[in-house]
Amino acid sequence: MSQHRILVLNGPNLSRLGKREPAIYGHTTLEEINVGIKKAFPDIAFDFFQTEDEGELLEKLFQVEDEGGCIGVLLNAGALTHYSIALRDAISAVGAAVVEVHLSNIYAREEFRSRSVISAVCAGVVSGFGEESYHLGVRALVSLREQGGRQ
Ligand code: DQA
Repeated sequence: MSQHRILVLNGPNLSRLGKREPAIYGHTTLEEINVGIKKAFPDIAFDFFQTEDEGELLEKLFQVEDEGGCIGVLLNAGALTHYSIALRDAISAVGAAVVEVHLSNIYAREEFRSRSVISAVCAGVVSGFGEESYHLGVRALVSLREQGGRQ
């Protein structure tokens, strides 16, 4: 069996983890989260990408589709989650399974965060478990793949 490959895609402001609102997002940096993912799943090959730019996020999704080889994408789109119809359309357009992840529980915060415009076109959502949200998202992608789900 060939090695699973997963893209971990983080959007705006997630580069600031560790310094950014630690009471909500904790003290762990994005780099530490990425190292933790690799350690927890040594048999999976990960690509990590973070950008502050909506267009770059879209382009990365198109690249994944064009190059193939990924079993899916873990996506923390940050605030774009709540308003980017362009991101929603891009997720819809690509065949890859996308799991939406959030460190915080977006349903337990400000009203505007409880609406995600991307959830309906994602395979599923993990929200509220801090760093563990990413690990649960990886498990979901692997299990989707093994069940022959959307990919
Ligand atoms: C977030 C939640 C979003 O509402 C927020 O804009 C973020 C981070 C999270 O991981 O909890 O930037 O996606």
